[in-house]
Formats: sequence, structure tokens, C-alpha cells
Amino acid sequence: MKTDSGLILVSNAEPYAYNWNEDDEIEQEKLAGGLTSAMDPLLQEAGGTWVAWGREEADFEVLDSENKVRVPDENGYDLRRLNLSEEEVEEFYLGFSNEVLWPLSHSFLERSNLEDYRECERKWNFYEEVNRKYADAVLEEYSGDEGIWIHDYHLTLVPRMVREEYPDADIAFFWHIPWPSWSIFGALPWRKEVLKGMLSSNFLGFHTPSYKKEFVSCAEKAGLRGKESNLEEPGVGTTISSVPLGIDYDWFTSLAEKDEFKREAQDLRDDLAAERIILGVDRLDYTKGIPQRLRAFELFLEENPEFQGEVSLIQRIPPSRTSADEYQSTLEKIERIVGEINGKFGKHGWTPVKSFHRFLPKQEQLIPYYLAADVQLVTSLCDGMNLVSKEYVATTDEGVLILSEFAGAAEELEEAIQINPYNVKETAQSIKRALTMPSEEKRERLNKLKKKVRENDLMNWRDRFMEGWLDK
Ligand code: G6P
Repeated sequence: MKTDSGLILVSNAEPYAYNWNEDDEIEQEKLAGGLTSAMDPLLQEAGGTWVAWGREEADFEVLDSENKVRVPDENGYDLRRLNLSEEEVEEFYLGFSNEVLWPLSHSFLERSNLEDYRECERKWNFYEEVNRKYADAVLEEYSGDEGIWIHDYHLTLVPRMVREEYPDADIAFFWHIPWPSWSIFGALPWRKEVLKGMLSSNFLGFHTPSYKKEFVSCAEKAGLRGKESNLEEPGVGTTISSVPLGIDYDWFTSLAEKDEFKREAQDLRDDLAAERIILGVDRLDYTKGIPQRLRAFELFLEENPEFQGEVSLIQRIPPSRTSADEYQSTLEKIERIVGEINGKFGKHGWTPVKSFHRFLPKQEQLIPYYLAADVQLVTSLCDGMNLVSKEYVATTDEGVLILSEFAGAAEELEEAIQINPYNVKETAQSIKRALTMPSEEKRERLNKLKKKVRENDLMNWRDRFMEGWLDK
């Protein structure tokens, strides 16, 4: 990889958004999330262009004639925005990306609607078209020298589309979600196209060794030898690697020290009138196992009446993909169960479950929650990594992490209490174990977890990815 020539980064989600404020002025907002925090400093350093979908109100008001804006300011880099039509949003983004590839990758085969072939084919056609749009934007930016780094399941066909034009292009791809087994992935009628697209990269990264193993096995099963596959494209071999994503550890620990956040944490506790707090933080998604979490908390209260009136569960659920039916019905289910639990146990100002379905415009808004929580409960049924578990570990002083064994983070964070989220009884028992854990054991586990999260932080992830790519 030739870093000195700069980078072209491609992702569906954008790093900065523009919206109108109350005074009718356009305001820039840095979007929270792993991708932005990792890539934004890199691009600011290396220079280059980020190509992404502009989906906020004023995103297109600030662009020049080449659809670009300098971010964060004049000294930064170019953000080139793609405009998607309503139909493209429906069929490419919500459709093929989020209703077919997302459930399939999370091993929810039955939710991917593959039985309706004609409908899936229509979505697929849009997926190809929009991937072509992204590839065209990259090709317009490309001078023949930059490294091209493509991200995630929305854009699997882009590497091949670029490779067809530039056989020597230097392309990396990072897959941010789980990779399923062949018995699931193999059901996709366009499996070869997706695999060939990804394998047209020089360097291909996954979060965990297991996802990498499954991917290589899928490539082999599809007759495209995973390792060193060149897919009829001469001169290109693909290195496939596992590079688990980390968080900006120092940023979280420095915010944890701030008095204003400590005060807010105390306010949260006072408002709840609860001695102990259990925290759940998840983008609204059926893969997060929120109903199972609520049922486990219900069972815990039922079996341990001495904790009634003492412990509350706070569930923060930032909205996501709000126009998709699956996401609406997940929300309705969650709200129904919360109502049931509060109706059953709530008393004298104590609310067992507080659930907030609201946007979190700034990542630091979570800090008081992390500080206030005695336990963080992660019950994902399947999850690429689960960065919030790492954020909690970095921020808390004495908390206990309960972590689903089906989250990518579980392969690293062995000192968490690990659970099978489908085993509601086991989770309920783990809640009790976490709340009654001796201080010594808590400290020991947390120190080991902190060490891991610190050592494999975001910058380290980025450097290891770049090293793997450079070594090619
Ligand atoms: C996951 C995906 C990202 C995506 C994010 C938010 O983490 O891996 O690519 O950006 O969810 O989803 P959204 O559909 O709102 O972009």
C-alpha cells in the first residue's frame, strides 16, 4: 500500500453530517461510531477522499461542483457524497443490504426472505447498480496511486468493479459484521458474485478468527479458493486476516474522569430511586436479543424478590433503519415486554425497566450511563464485535460485564461473565452473580479486561490493518 499517495475510503455511512439548526443555519455534526473514530484521524493524516452516502437534510447544500466538501474544515480531507434515490434507498439499502445480507450474515436465514426469489432479484439488481455508482465515484477520484479501502456488506461488489478497470489497484476491504457458515451463506443465489467481489481485494479483514475461517471455507465451497484466490484476475492474490476492531480507549478513560459526567451519573441513580443499575445499550436491532434480556431480568426479579425495589435495568435503544418492518416489530415487542415487567413489579416510585428509544447525537452522552451502571448486560444473539462492551470496560471503575458468547468481542473478553442469551435462566443467574460478586474478583476481572481493551485499541487496530495491507 502506498500511503504517501493518500487514501480513498469508501463506506455507506458518512463520517460527518450536515443539518439545519434552529436558527436556520447549517451545522456540521461528527457522527459517532467506530468507523468514523478510526478512519477520520487516518484520513486527516494521510489525506485523500472519503466516498459515502449523504443521507442528512443539508448534506447536499454544502457540496462543490464535484459533490465534495472538506471535512472537518479546510485543512482536512474531501468527503464526496453520493445521492441515492428513494427507490435506491428502499431496494439497495433497506432491501438487499439490510433485509437480505444483514440477516443472512447474522445467521437469521429465515428473515432474509430468500423464498421470494423475484423480490430478492429486484433488490439484488439495485444492489449491483448502487455498487456501480460507488465504484464510478471511486474511479473518478482515483489517480492510479492511492490505496482504496472499502468497508462493509453494502459494498461487496466495489472491489471487483474497480479491479476490472485497474488490475493493479491496491484495494483493502473490512467486513464489520459476522460471517456465517456455508449452510447459511451458501443459500444466497448471488453467493459467487459477493465472494468474487470481496476476493478482488488485496487485503481482506474480519473481526475474529472464526469469521475468517468461515469465510475461507465459503470461498472454498464456492470453488473460489479463499487463500491466494485471484479470480481470473491476473496478478492479484488476497490475504485474508482477522483484525478485531477496538475503541479509542484513552478518549473514554479521559471522559470518565470528568466531574460533569460523574455528577450526571449520580443524577441518574437518584432519579431511578434504585440502589443498583444494570445497563443495556444497543442500536434497535433484532440481532441484539433485547427481548431475551428483558425476560432474563424479569426472571431474576421473580426468583430474587429481595432485589425488587433495589435494581433497575436501563435500556438505551438508539433508533435504526426505522422504516423497515422487522425493526418496527422488534420495537413493539420490546415495548410490550417492558410494559409487562413494569406492570408486574413496579412500586413506590421504583421503575424496574427504563427504556429510551432515542437518538444519541453524541457518543459522550453514554459516559454517565457507563459510570452509573453496576453491570452491563450484552445479550446479542449474533453480533460482529459489540463495541459497547469495550466502551463499558474502558469507562467503568468497578462494574461487571455480562457478555453474550455470540458477540465477536467474546473471543477477546474472556474475563466477562459469558452467557448463552437464549438460556434466559442462565442469564438471570448471571445477573445475580454479577450483583453479588466479591470486590476482589470484580477488580481482578476488570483489570484484565481493561488491559486487553487498552492494548487492542482503535489506533492499534488501524495500524495492524495497515501493516497487514502494506505487507502485501
Ligand atoms: C452496523 C454496520 C454498519 C452500519 C451500522 C449502522 O454496525 O456494520 O455498516 O453503518 O450498523 O446502521 P445504519 O443502517 O444506520 O447505517
